[in-house]
Amino acid sequence: MKLLLKNAKKLSSTSELKTVEVLIENNTIMEIGETLNIVADQTIDCEENLLLPGFIDVHIHLREPGGENKETIKTGTKAAARGGFTTVCAMPNTNPVPDNEEAVRSLLKKIEADAEVRVLPYAAITKGLQGKELTDISKLAEEGIFAFTDDGVGIQTADYMLQAMKQAAACGKPIVAHCEDNSIVYGGVMHDGEVSEKLGLPGIPSLSESVQIARDVLLAEAAGCHYHVCHVSTKESVRVIRDAKKAGIHVTAEVTPHHLLLDETAVLEDDANYKMNPPLRAAADREALLEGLLDGTIDFIATDHAPHAADEKEKGFQGAPFGIVGLETAFPLLYTHLVHTGKCSLAQLVNWLTAKPASVFNLPYGHIAEGASADLTLVDLEKQQEIDKATFLSKGKNTPFHKWSVQGIPVLTIVEGNIAYKEDEHE
Ligand code: DOR
Repeated sequence: MKLLLKNAKKLSSTSELKTVEVLIENNTIMEIGETLNIVADQTIDCEENLLLPGFIDVHIHLREPGGENKETIKTGTKAAARGGFTTVCAMPNTNPVPDNEEAVRSLLKKIEADAEVRVLPYAAITKGLQGKELTDISKLAEEGIFAFTDDGVGIQTADYMLQAMKQAAACGKPIVAHCEDNSIVYGGVMHDGEVSEKLGLPGIPSLSESVQIARDVLLAEAAGCHYHVCHVSTKESVRVIRDAKKAGIHVTAEVTPHHLLLDETAVLEDDANYKMNPPLRAAADREALLEGLLDGTIDFIATDHAPHAADEKEKGFQGAPFGIVGLETAFPLLYTHLVHTGKCSLAQLVNWLTAKPASVFNLPYGHIAEGASADLTLVDLEKQQEIDKATFLSKGKNTPFHKWSVQGIPVLTIVEGNIAYKEDEHE
């Protein structure tokens, strides 16, 4: 089956836009050229929209198994496809936790059956994410696991983290860390700052994140391990990571769209659509995150898509679980609020969503090139929309961005040559 994409704009290496045709066959990009003179089985007119490598999100929650009321592999990957994502990496805070070979095999089977985009699952660092017993990292790596994390919780003791890093280093796999020292969280539910004080809510100190990153970069250096920091949220964390990179330690980091676009002042009332972990921090933190992203301290963007049920999120900051959805809003929000405002270029944003995460995790995706997997996202940069959570394909509607006006909408997503999402079929 030959699929031909016509009239697609492509970003050149010098960031110019060129109109191209792309031939896809056998899941692969076979040819790219101005005009290909090919009779294909199917032709799609891209109408001068921008053709990008499929986006990669290394931090999402699919909730299956165990949390199917919040999301399933099917609904989460439909949401991913709508957002232009062709590869997503699923966090292991599910029930059961993928912490043994049998659970991993069963998860891979479910993914194979149901996923609409490529899903790479993480396996846990400790059994049941309990921080008390390490998983068998080398055995799980043999099952095809690409990286290890206890996301949702921090690894509380240096000893476990060091042992895990040594094992991961021995099989060439990264340790991916949710950094949070529980001993200094003090039951907080939002950033410990002026807004938590005003609303009378317990605060999460910045230090609970940065102090664990500071510990871990030293452990990573000792273990010779690739250490990746999840959802960086504080200016002190950015500083620690910057210093660690300067010292030659193999540390990489991600930041979420919400930490780049919002800070604690967005929280006007006790609305848990603004509750996530780590929390929205102060304005100075938000500025430091963007600065860190621009100077390469933070490597790329990941959404931390965390769907929850509406009745749980109605419980306010004290009662609701942490987390917001992000897959269906990421590109439009970032294009509108970073590229349109001149804070970064389109090429930078695309890099943070494609080639950069791919290179950090050694994934063979994130590029449009002959011979590459046909993972592609077509974006209508002119199209404007108001974000409407009722239209989300995700089961989760928990977003602080409902009714935000955005521009730059993914309209077609192709995974390994197959159409995973086409906007006009969903409108
Ligand atoms: O806000 C969050 N939600 N942060 C996490 O670390 C976990 C996630 C979830 O699973 O809901």
